[in-house]
Amino acid sequence: MPKALVMGSGGREHALAWRLAKDLGKENVWLHPGNGGTVYAGFPAFPAAKSPAEVVAAAKALGIDLIVIGPELLLAEGYSDHLREQGFPVCGASRFAAQLETSKVFAKEFMSRHNVPTAAFRVAKSPEELATILSTVKYPTVLKLSGLAAGKGVVLPNTREEALQFSDRVWQQNEFGPGPHEIVVEDVLPGTEISWIGLCYGKQFTPLPSATDYKRVFDGHKGPNTGGMGVISPSPYETPELAEKIRTQVVARVLEGLVQERIDYRGALYIGIMISPGGDPFVLEFNTRFGDPETQGTLPRVRGNFYEILLAVANGAAPEKLDVDPRTTIYVVAAAEGYPGNYRKGMEITDRGHDSADSWLFFSGVSFSDNRLKANGGRVLGSCGIASEKGLARDLAYRRLQEVTFEGRFFRTDIGNL
Ligand code: AMP
Ligand code: GLY
Repeated sequence: MPKALVMGSGGREHALAWRLAKDLGKENVWLHPGNGGTVYAGFPAFPAAKSPAEVVAAAKALGIDLIVIGPELLLAEGYSDHLREQGFPVCGASRFAAQLETSKVFAKEFMSRHNVPTAAFRVAKSPEELATILSTVKYPTVLKLSGLAAGKGVVLPNTREEALQFSDRVWQQNEFGPGPHEIVVEDVLPGTEISWIGLCYGKQFTPLPSATDYKRVFDGHKGPNTGGMGVISPSPYETPELAEKIRTQVVARVLEGLVQERIDYRGALYIGIMISPGGDPFVLEFNTRFGDPETQGTLPRVRGNFYEILLAVANGAAPEKLDVDPRTTIYVVAAAEGYPGNYRKGMEITDRGHDSADSWLFFSGVSFSDNRLKANGGRVLGSCGIASEKGLARDLAYRRLQEVTFEGRFFRTDIGNL
């Protein structure tokens, strides 16, 4: 039986490993580093490895046939390139291609070159340049720090004063490190957001099942933005007409651009899209990876041999279409008190239930020692339910989640409602 390695430590990686285990058996799927929950779930332990060279040595010793990379940081560090040079098939964007996510300036200029619809923009390389631009724009406007900023690099200031506060945070208080920094200033786009995620190998983009991510921390879309508090798949906003517009107006131009610029893309590509009130798609951002928690909500609907599909992507090919389970999934995240701000850690997790074929857990921020599971992240774990009706999928997900408790736990109760 072939063997796969999933790199990363979140719920997304647990879901990738869980789905690969359906094809390969759990004993043939490793996670590095994974988390306490993936150890508890019974995946074998990958040897401790700190550098790319140590990962290579351990993967060679185990006879790994495919490596899937989850987080953007590993892509930005060039893990894909290094592992490919060592002969492994890797599903993960190269460091160069990952600039579509790690540099907003690179992404916007790429879109300009290839006529991909996106908001009009300008780039400021210093506080002085930004101040000048800010005197000419309409408010609210959008400011985006160009580099990776763990979800904290985008603001929508209502006034020039508010915009200048962001400039201070970046260039005076060095909140995002010493720099040099660049800030993209772009027009606000009205509309509804949708995440369009697919497997991409440069010449082809194979959409994964659609999903809507619930980004705000509290019910009714209230409170600050988070990495994502839950998912419904399929997305209630997806229509065949919209899918066709995204395919022709966005995806086809992105692929054309990748080919023209000889960017050999092999991995998941996540396109954040705003659907205008007139129904046209505009790109907000690219992520050069699978989404979290979208992956936990969508992979359970992917049928067929997922290992073979990812191996094909890694080898520079991809199926044209995935065979998708028509049922609905609902995935609900349980978070630690305080998230997305400073959150509590170390609370013991008690699970009084069991996973079944239609409801089960994925672990994100969890440690496991002395046979005890403890919370050690903001998003701790999540529960997935699958059923032919949305209401039933929701009942299944919430019922399973209620069986798992830890002090200060909270979750949204409206995942799956619009
Ligand atoms: P980004 O990391 O570029 O996706 O930005 C984070 C979030 O900011 C997006 O998910 C949107 O909710 C919002 N956003 C970004 N750009 C715009 C824009 N041009 N107009 C309106 N909202 C935006
Ligand atoms: N759920 C949003 C992301 O993965 O970036």
